[in-house]
Formats: sequence, C-alpha cells, structure tokens
Amino acid sequence: MAKQRAEVDALSEAEARAELARLATEINLADAAYYQRDDPHLTDAEYDALRQRNLAIEAAFPHLKRKDSPSDKVGARIGDGFSKSEHLVPMLSLGNAFSDQDVEDFSAKIARFLGLSGDDTITLTAEPKIDGLSLNLLYQKGKLVRASTRGDGAVGEDVTANARTISDVPEQFGGKDWPDEIEVRGEVYMTHADFAALNSREHEAGRKGFANPRNAAAGSLRQLDVSVTKSRPLRFFAYAWGAVSAPVAETQWDTVAKFAEWGFSVNLLFSRHETTQNLLAAYADIERQRATLGYDIDGVVYKVDRLDWQARLGFVSRAPRWAVAHKFPAETATTLLEAIEIQVGRTGSLTPVARLSPVTVGGVVVSNATLHNEDEIARKDIRIGDTVTVQRAGDVIPQITGVLDPGRKGRPAPWAMPETCPVCSSPAIREIDDKGTEDVRRRCTGGLICAAQTVERLKHFVSRQALDIDGLGSKQVALFHERGVVKSFPDIFQLEARIAEAGLPPLAEWEGFGETSAKKLFDAIEARRRIEFAAVLKGLGIRHVGRTVSGLYERNFLSWSRFWETVARAAEAPESETAEAARAELAAIDGVGNAAVDALVSFYSDPASREMLTALDAELDVLDGEAASDDSPVSGKTIVFTGKLEKMTRDEAKARATMLGAKVSGSVSAKTDILVAGPGAGSKLKKAETLGIKTLTEEEWITLVGSGRYFDCA
Ligand code: IVH
Repeated sequence: MAKQRAEVDALSEAEARAELARLATEINLADAAYYQRDDPHLTDAEYDALRQRNLAIEAAFPHLKRKDSPSDKVGARIGDGFSKSEHLVPMLSLGNAFSDQDVEDFSAKIARFLGLSGDDTITLTAEPKIDGLSLNLLYQKGKLVRASTRGDGAVGEDVTANARTISDVPEQFGGKDWPDEIEVRGEVYMTHADFAALNSREHEAGRKGFANPRNAAAGSLRQLDVSVTKSRPLRFFAYAWGAVSAPVAETQWDTVAKFAEWGFSVNLLFSRHETTQNLLAAYADIERQRATLGYDIDGVVYKVDRLDWQARLGFVSRAPRWAVAHKFPAETATTLLEAIEIQVGRTGSLTPVARLSPVTVGGVVVSNATLHNEDEIARKDIRIGDTVTVQRAGDVIPQITGVLDPGRKGRPAPWAMPETCPVCSSPAIREIDDKGTEDVRRRCTGGLICAAQTVERLKHFVSRQALDIDGLGSKQVALFHERGVVKSFPDIFQLEARIAEAGLPPLAEWEGFGETSAKKLFDAIEARRRIEFAAVLKGLGIRHVGRTVSGLYERNFLSWSRFWETVARAAEAPESETAEAARAELAAIDGVGNAAVDALVSFYSDPASREMLTALDAELDVLDGEAASDDSPVSGKTIVFTGKLEKMTRDEAKARATMLGAKVSGSVSAKTDILVAGPGAGSKLKKAETLGIKTLTEEEWITLVGSGRYFDCA
C-alpha cells in the first residue's frame, strides 16, 4: 500500500483528473456488466482496486472529485424487467482496507472522529465478507412484505417473489421482540457444491453456465420466472439492517443475535474484539479457513459494535465510517508484454498501455494493463518482449508489478516514450510547474487541433456526468467529429443543420441509425437544451472545475450569467480592484481552490473559449441553481463552527451539517447564516455578533439538527 500511496502522491493534478475520468468510466462499465448483465468482466479484486485507487486520488485531490464520482454511487442503474423498489434507508457499501496499517488507520480515525482517549476501548466485530449480492428484506409486523436488490443503492429491483424461494429467508419472524418495521439486510450466495452442480446442469443443457458462484447467485435471484429461481439453491446470511421502527439492541453483536432468534442464518465466524491485534488475528483465522468454508468470501468486515457510536460516525460518500472491508490480497500471474500503445486523453496526456498475451489471473482473462507514465516504465525497466508479472488489486488494475529475468540475453533496448502525439503529431512535452517540478506525464501540445483531445472533450461534454445526452455516446461523437459535423460543443445542438450543410445525407440514412434512432437522438439533444448549471460547467472540462467545484458554483451563484459575469470581471483587467473582488468572490467558497479560479480565468481569457461560450449560450437554456431544496432546517445555509465542541468532534459536526445540505465555511462573513460557537470562541464570535449573525451554542445546534437518524424509518 505504501508504494501505491506514493504513486498517488506523485500524480500531477492533470494526471489525477485524467485518471479519475478513466476510473469513472471503467467503474461505470464494470457496474453495468455486474449489475445489469450479471456478467462481470472484472474480478472483485480488480474492481475493488479501481474503487480504491479512485478514493485514494479523490482523497489527495478533493477538488477534482467528479460529479459522477463512483464513490458516490454504490452500483449501476438498474436493468429493465423488475419493478423498482425504493429502499427506506439507502443501501450503502463499504470502504476497503488492504493492509494491517489500513486497519490501524481505520480504528484511529474512529477514535479521532468520536474524540475518544487512549483509554477508551473500541469494540469491533469481525465477520467474513460474503461474495454474493446484497438483499434488502422489509418486514412489517414480522412478516416479509418486500425483497429488493441493492440496485443503485437508493432504488433496487423488487425480487420479492424470488426471495421467498430462499429457505434462509423467513417468511414470518419467529422469537419475540421484533420491531413493527425493519429492513433486514444480508448477502445472497451460492455454495461451491451447488454452483458446480448448477453449472454441470447448465452445460448439459448446452448453455454457457456461470463464471463464478456470485454470478450464479445474482443470475438466479434476478430471474423473471420465479420457478427458475426456485430450482436454484440460494442461501442468505443476515448481517445488517436499514430502517428500523424501534431500536432492536444496543450493539451490532446483539442485533445479529436477534436476527438469529427471529429465524435468519447468521455467519458462525462472527466474532467481537477489543484490540486491533485481536481483530487482525480474527482476519488471519478466517483467511485460514477460506478454502474450506464451501462458499466464496473475499475479505473480513469489521464493524463498530456500539450502535450509538455507529450513529455518531455516520456515513461518508457511499460508505459508513463505522465499518470497513479488509480484503484478501491480490493474485498474480506472468505473461508476455507484446506491445506498448499510447492513449491520448481529454487534456492531451499520453498514457502508455501494455498489450499482454492474454493470461488468467484468478479466474479472469487479462490482456491489457496500464503503465501509468514513462518514469514508471523506466523505474520498473519494462521492455516490449519481456515476461512480466501482472497483479490485480489494490491499485488501478491490472497492473504490471515487475519483469522476470531482466538480465536475459538479446533483450531489446529500453522502451522510449514518443515525443510527438501519435494522433496529431504535435510535440508532446512534459510541463514544468512554477516550482520547477517536471510533470510525470507527457502531454500533447496540439490542443484543439488534436483530434484525439477534441473527441475526448466532446465525449466528456455529452457524457453521463455532464450533459448526459441519451444515445450520444463515445462512438457517435467520434463519428460526427470524423465526418466534420461536430467540431465543438455548440455544434451538437445544430447537428441536423450541420449534417445538411456538409452535404451529407440525413442522419436517418446513415449506417447504424435509421428513422427511429435518428429521431430519438435529435429528441434527446433537444431535451438537454434546458440544462442544469453544474452539468454545463462540468461539461466544459475546465481544469480543476469538476463535479464538486461545478456543484459548489451552482449552489453559490445560482445564476449562470452572474457566474460568468464574475469570471469575466476576474479575467478583465488583472490585478485591478474589480478583478480582485471578482476573484475573491469566486474563491470564497469552501471547497474551491485558487487553482480552479486560475483555470476559469485562463479559460475565459482565451477568445476562442469566449466565442464558444457565446455560441453555446445561444443554444442552451441554462437553468439557474436552486438553493438546496432539502427540508432540513440548515439546508442551503452557510455555517461556521468555532470554539471547542464538547458533544462531538469538529469533523462530526461538519459532516452532519454537510449531510443536511448546509455549506460549512471556515470564516465568518456577511454570507454566514449561523455561527456555532463552543467555549473559547474568540474573534469569529465577535465578528458574527458585529454582523448580527445568528449564533448557537453546541446544545442549540444539536436541538436544531438532531444527532443522527439511525433508527428513523424514513
Ligand atoms: S455490511 C453499510 N457485512 O459487501 C454496510 N457487507 O462492499 C453494509 N457484504 O454491499 C454492509 N458480506 O453486499 C456487510 N458481512 C458483511 C458482508 C457485506 C458481504 C457485501 C455487501 C455490501 C458489500 C460492500
């Protein structure tokens, strides 16, 4: 892990952004394959590695976090065929730990967040991480009323009839003391023996069978014909819950014990520990038993036992702060490096990609791997024709970890990165920043003349995370660009006319289109003329102005035109008073850095950008942002915390405020709505009083926003 972290630290902003973009795409594709088609092309380790890398980069470059960041989503959109079912409380996911150090960090973070001292014991549970698919079971008065898959975390698929065929899922609770309403959650899985038997039946019937037990479980549960599900031996372990009408117990441990009393299967390897050392011993113990369990597990999940602490810790992005999945290590294989190809990204960065002789690494065929950058290749001395070790896990995967027999005779010369762009032949250079540091990534200087960059920018503009135009994907954008009809963003909204002007036949006559899909595409483009502020801003692909920053600008400026007027003022007469005031306004938002403001100003200073913006404005009806519509009492408000908080840590207070739709700022200004002042508050409190800003004590703050909604039935 240390090595991988160092790699993240070594990324330049541009690289980080490019990599986050690539990770978002890869994760989206993997999610679609997994959730919609039950046919994953990545193994768990590969997938986790992608997510892990994404989180690591986001942690290092928070302002680059994308609007479509995979860390905000649990899975992909749901497929057709089942009706939708909204979870009462969202189904989230788990952060990963890959090393003992990660586990230490996990518990240290908990202690810090809760403000615990060294003497306080944090009891944690340990249990196998079952490699299946999660299921949400809603019980009312002890009776199963609905079962749903996780879906995108908020809305899943209603698989009630299918779930009723699973014998581990009680139709009616036994025992006593169950709440009126509870969402019991757990994992549907298939044992190795049942999987083997199912696959041999499938093969006999001339069908392909399933790649692994998890796919078999997912494919079996998500059968439209319930009798098929019934014929498949599915099992279920209960390990978590969502909405609960009344508390069941005070600890994770006791709640799971209740599940068992009510008739659920719970995992027998569930244990409880007071030290990290014992937790790690439990991990080792479970890992030792892995091969003989008879079902797939891919790690060990640790959870804070005390539920009041779980409630205080809450969630961040898609995962709880009170739980983590400690994953088993990656698998490796060796293969031949056949070639190194160069990919050109949206910002012109050249990424070397390894083409490998296909090799199976832990059940999945791998035929390419990222090589990151030229320094990385030189450091590992990777050359074409080498036999290399390939690993899947912990990092962007698959990854080449080393070369076998580097001293062999007849080895070719070291590989050299091309100094011109393979697409537009412009010089490709490594920028040197103002501190004299050379960018590890080589960048094509062709800008808009580089077809690869232009196409990548256009793809980004129409992609799901930006304008989200249905039916206009990478393939179509590349095609329209190649035919010369779409060269810049506004062209998309003139597509029909531009096709005609170019003397091309109408789109309906193009290969692969036809009347219906051409009409659908034009309709989809029309539909996005009315578009959210943040989506357009994000779509422009300005450096440092990604998902988070675009969203912050939308929420703070509300008006698209006022925003650009401010940027224009900041760009007009640099260093003038008006420019400085405008810059200050653009930078005064918590979460927006100077880099973003510089990038906006530099974007706007280019006449070509202004021309494009004017043309784009003529096509679009950019909707003004709305002050957060959430009905929380602090939604849309700007809050400042000062002084010492006694009931919660500063991080905890900030997290709660953000979750409720408030903006947290570090300094008091006329824009501050509420100052929460603990003992010892000084100048901020004085300033707030002078400005007549509402001030609350910590007590009053808790009364206003509550302390968490863990047991709420939403
Ligand atoms: S707890 C809010 N416990 O892993 C946390 N999850 O990567 C709820 N999983 O979505 C999850 N075994 O599908 C938990 N013992 C276990 C698990 C487990 C498998 C799955 C589950 C979850 C995913 C997160």
